[in-house]
Amino acid sequence: MKITYLGHSSFHIETQGVNIILDPFISPNPLAKDIDIAKIKADYILLSHGHEDHIYDVEAIVSNNLEAIVVANYEIVSYFGKKGIPGHPMNTGGTKEFPFGSVRMENALHSSSFPDGSYAGCPAGFTLRIEDKTLYYAGDTDVFGDMKMIGERNPIDLAFLPIGDNFTMGIDGALQAADLLGVDKFVGMHFDTFPPIAVDAEKTAGAALKAQKELLLLGVGHSLNL
Ligand code: NI
Ligand code: MN
Repeated sequence: MKITYLGHSSFHIETQGVNIILDPFISPNPLAKDIDIAKIKADYILLSHGHEDHIYDVEAIVSNNLEAIVVANYEIVSYFGKKGIPGHPMNTGGTKEFPFGSVRMENALHSSSFPDGSYAGCPAGFTLRIEDKTLYYAGDTDVFGDMKMIGERNPIDLAFLPIGDNFTMGIDGALQAADLLGVDKFVGMHFDTFPPIAVDAEKTAGAALKAQKELLLLGVGHSLNL
């Protein structure tokens, strides 16, 4: 599979002709100005929670991908359903098999509401089983002890963890999370988009090095193959 960073906490996963988008927040993000949202292909759009910096571009992407399905909690799927966008509702602890693999909705320690302040259900993360690989996408969260259970359920090949601090855990929390999850390397996300989540790149890299973890910071638009 090919994983492309779309900036902030958004990624594009391409697996055997299926396109999965996570938490699209692209058009308002100056760091993602080179991503042409009209060219994004999507079959599934996975949303971790209702905050604007995770759902902003859902409608724009769906307008170019009429078959795309939102996968999120019941409240978020209902919200987009009222806008005519189809979805598959889940909730924490549930696993669903899709044509591309499986999605387990995980807990996250955060808040969640829609841009208008209305209730968006509980925030979530996702464990994805794709092509015999296990990915863990934490969403917006602090580190929590039950991450150990997530790692025990399926050995994780790659984790996506927020490192920007302030609204989520920072690098120290992410390194603790990596330990609990049992991963040696992880992709950092949710940093540098806004001033409160700007990170000191050198300090962050130093902390990862000291903890003997490989922190992958993908440039926006850059990909890795797994
Ligand atoms: Ni959030
Ligand atoms: Mn956020």
